[in-house]
Amino acid sequence: MPSPLFATKSIDSLRADAAGEHGLKRALGPIDLMLLGIGAIIGTGIFVLTGQAAADNAGPAVVLSFVVAGIASGFAGLCYAEMASMIPIAGSAYTYSYATMGELIAWIIGWDLILEYMVASAAVSVGWSGYAVAFVHDVLGVTLPKTWTSAPFLYDEAAHQFHATGAVLNVPAMLVTVLVTVVLVIGIKESARFNSVIVTVKVAVVLMFVAFCARFVNTSLWHPFIPPEEAPGRFGMSGVMRGAARVFFAYIGFDAVSTAAQETRDPQHDLPFGILGSLSVCTILYVAVSLVLTGLVPYQQLGVPHPIALGVEATGQRWLATLVEIGAIAGLSSVMLVMMMGQPRIFFSMAHDGLLPPAAARVHPRFGTPWITTIITGVVVAVAGGLLPVGVLSQLTSVGTLFAFVLVSLGVLILRRRRPDIPRGFRVPGGTYLVPLLGAGTSGYLMLQETASTLIRLFGWMAIGLGIYFAYGRKHSKLARG
Ligand code: ALA
Repeated sequence: MPSPLFATKSIDSLRADAAGEHGLKRALGPIDLMLLGIGAIIGTGIFVLTGQAAADNAGPAVVLSFVVAGIASGFAGLCYAEMASMIPIAGSAYTYSYATMGELIAWIIGWDLILEYMVASAAVSVGWSGYAVAFVHDVLGVTLPKTWTSAPFLYDEAAHQFHATGAVLNVPAMLVTVLVTVVLVIGIKESARFNSVIVTVKVAVVLMFVAFCARFVNTSLWHPFIPPEEAPGRFGMSGVMRGAARVFFAYIGFDAVSTAAQETRDPQHDLPFGILGSLSVCTILYVAVSLVLTGLVPYQQLGVPHPIALGVEATGQRWLATLVEIGAIAGLSSVMLVMMMGQPRIFFSMAHDGLLPPAAARVHPRFGTPWITTIITGVVVAVAGGLLPVGVLSQLTSVGTLFAFVLVSLGVLILRRRRPDIPRGFRVPGGTYLVPLLGAGTSGYLMLQETASTLIRLFGWMAIGLGIYFAYGRKHSKLARG
């Protein structure tokens, strides 16, 4: 008998669960999933962090940072695809680890994923607020007061403490969260349709940036491509790697596709397609965008809140700058939509297993959505986005996600050895060890590039989660009670 802490759910029972017992509607096809992935991926990372990583860490070689972060995400993406094709039910890495590494690790991952989905949504809502404020200023000529459009706290990395900024609340960030929550409660198919429109706009704007600005590139700005190292993590190869950890945020989101497994018509085929397809498209776009951007504006000047719009302005095409702002506003909304759709479904799976109170697994009788957890998610995201700075939120998101990637990659390896018999719609290439070990290794490496304060916050979050597990989940677990 394994100790209950490490008891695993049987994969056969998971697959039986997937038969639709939860009552979620199966409405999504492969293209819906790929759009869902792209909707989650392209956001604050490319629109905001590219410029900051170029200015502070990597110079024009931010292009290489994107490649490094893309490779790490690709390995994890392959592992996610194998897991998702094998265990096609809602819950993402949480569900996978329940079947491979037992209840305790599953809880840890589920708790960790809250960082990825909820905290990321809050980070993106803050980015949305910044672009919305800029758009209102540029197009309507109205300057919204900072007091009501920015965070009341900032984190000073050097002094290791939070400062009051004098602002009260980031109201636009809270507003967009409320809107996204309403859309999600109304229903998945409607959300997917809304998402497809926005994703099209977002990708079109990114492509237009590349197409209309490429001819203005001044190749002398790419020299030196990797500026000499000034300090660890600032230029040189160490800067490229620190930059990779920073822009890693830009790739987060493809795994949200797997949380929609129960709403997918043919999960075995559609999930790998959705995950790998969206990741590939985004990697190509990121490399193109960062190449063009660093050829338009000297990298030292890119550390602004709207680097892409700044790049366009350098070409003198004002109309395109406005369009980029609109695309960013729409794009960031769609990131929030997918993230905030993933989170309730993870809560939902945890409640279904008895690790969270049963109310979290209730599906709305008419809309067929997990409405209670959707609303709880909305409230938490609105409060976090209204109060906290984007840097703290995005770094915490990244470290939490990388941790989940490490565990999922190892999960693929464990499952290949323990349950080779289970049919897999998709298998990672290269055998049992190669890709899972590369996945765990690259994500683990990027985790170590994060700042110490971020790692400490991750441990603090995990300690709270363990407290809840031992106080509630362990006693109510359906698995433990047989
Ligand atoms: N990848 C998402 C973004 O860049 C989280 O905003």
